Amino acid sequence: MKPIHETITSKSSYTFIIYLFQEELTMAETLVTLKTRRSCRAYKPELIEEEKLDAIIEAGTYAATGMGKQSPIIIAVTGKELRDKLSKMNAEIMGVDFDPFYGAPELLIVLADKDIPTYLYDGSLVMGNMMNAAADLGVASCWIHRAKEEFESEEGKAILNDLGISGNFEGIGHLVLGYAAGPDAEPAPRKDSYVVRA
Ligand SMILES: Cc1cc2nc3c(=O)[nH]c(=O)nc-3n(C[C@H](O)[C@H](O)[C@H](O)COP(=O)(O)O)c2cc1C
Repeated sequence: MKPIHETITSKSSYTFIIYLFQEELTMAETLVTLKTRRSCRAYKPELIEEEKLDAIIEAGTYAATGMGKQSPIIIAVTGKELRDKLSKMNAEIMGVDFDPFYGAPELLIVLADKDIPTYLYDGSLVMGNMMNAAADLGVASCWIHRAKEEFESEEGKAILNDLGISGNFEGIGHLVLGYAAGPDAEPAPRKDSYVVRA
């Protein structure tokens, strides 16, 4: 018989509910979260609980980093004014006229110190830890790109300056957060060529 986490493809599936009552849960809980996390593209306007936000951020700070140098930093944006400003900047970079944050009320921005050779990997792992932590807590999220361009702009640099952030940081990504306004999308099937066993 397949391990139970291999049979689960969706949080909403009945299998998952059944699974919650099985004793194996503690062992495979992380695997279930990793497999059932989905990017959310429609949010309710309410902020998430502060304790959940703190836990998601903390999970980010525990990501592995090259030589343990902790090259990334995380900016937590919970205020509407800055959130809206960043959304507008992001839309302009993308050349679109909609909210690229999909109505999410808050976001975490990861930047990483370019002077550390592994900064891009470090920052990406922080993003991954935080999106999986969010999923584990029932919080919806989506990685939104273009943080690099955003914080290379004069407007972006001014935001960092206002926050007292100096240094050679590059924007890695935004993790928009909130409660989902609808059901999760189904995951795309994994491509056949994903794994090579040698
Ligand atoms: C580096 C990176 C950049 C992404 N940028 C965006 C983005 O700008 N907007 C968006 O809607 N989703 C973005 N995503 C989310 C992906 O589209 C999403 O992860 C992918 O479609 C797979 O869906 P899943 O996360 O539900 O498994 C990004 C994901 C990654 C890893």
